[in-house]
Amino acid sequence: MSNGTELQHAVEILRSGGVVGLPTETVYGLAADATNELAVRRVFAIKGRPADHPLIVHVADAEAARAWVRGWPAEAEALAAAFWPGPMTLVLPRSPLASDAVTGGQDTVAVRVPGHPLARALLQAFGGGVAAPSANRFGGVSPTTAAHVRADLGQVVPLVLDGGPCEVGVESTIVDLSSAEPAVLRPGGISPEQLSAVLGRPVPVRQSSSVRVSGSLASHYAPRAGVELVGAGAVRTRASALRDQGVKVAGLVPDSVGLPAGVGRFFLPDSPTGYARGLYAALRDIDAAGYERILVVEPEGGGVSLAVQDRLRRAAAPRPRGP
Ligand code: TXA
Ligand code: MG
Repeated sequence: MSNGTELQHAVEILRSGGVVGLPTETVYGLAADATNELAVRRVFAIKGRPADHPLIVHVADAEAARAWVRGWPAEAEALAAAFWPGPMTLVLPRSPLASDAVTGGQDTVAVRVPGHPLARALLQAFGGGVAAPSANRFGGVSPTTAAHVRADLGQVVPLVLDGGPCEVGVESTIVDLSSAEPAVLRPGGISPEQLSAVLGRPVPVRQSSSVRVSGSLASHYAPRAGVELVGAGAVRTRASALRDQGVKVAGLVPDSVGLPAGVGRFFLPDSPTGYARGLYAALRDIDAAGYERILVVEPEGGGVSLAVQDRLRRAAAPRPRGP
């Protein structure tokens, strides 16, 4: 765990235009001063992320969030009161504080008040907005421990604050409040039902939008190994077939599902929150063990399982092959 000296060091790095690894309750972020365009560009460069993909601005409280947006509708106030600090991001028309570097040139900005105590302490000590995408290389699996960040980016990011494993384990829910109808752009730690309950109207998940949400690209959140979604009844047969072709295959399956010999077995808790919390670490473990293929039985249900299903489907989507 990181201490007060490290926190102070992190604040100094941010003030001087550097980047730090930052724990949040969802996933670890790669943090930079959101008002420093050079620092923000460094984040894009480190991640290998296209510069026109917007970043989320993290702030200490709703009051600070209001400086980044133009107008603060009643629905923003209601959602902020209900879910901040926490795993929810609001998209609103931007104020002049939000530069093109942060918004990818769009008229809107994404703001979030994270709930992790170390993130809160850093944002309070820093006093400004921090742009922080997930601290992984573009397209890969988000990090949920400080060790994951060090493994991905340790060469180029000297300070990674260690806040332990992330409590939620999947990214924040992104809620678009910039048009007449509220909509979820990315399912996450807060479910559409929870949002609807506060707003008193449906908050649909918007499948496609003109806005560039990299997390909405078909292939994203993907481990190195190919991910295949398989029904519980078909796993054994599929696993045997792949094994017989000489593919190094692992199953990420419920306890009740048996696997043939010679197939790796990986396991996540049955509870939706436990599954979400452990998902990214499991995908990384499977990669680290050298498997080429992962057969996943998708968990059912709503709530945070919606975010899990979304990430697994994107991980399973066909991806452009590298050189
Ligand atoms: O839980 C999270 O949100 C984590 C932690 C670190 O806070 N952050 C995260 O950041 O997931 P990132 O950059 O990996 O994903 C942010 C998503 C991207 O898909 C981006 O396109 C979208 O937010 N986004 C940012 N600004 C937006 C905007 N103005 N309109 C629509 N989407 C936006
Ligand atoms: Mg990301």
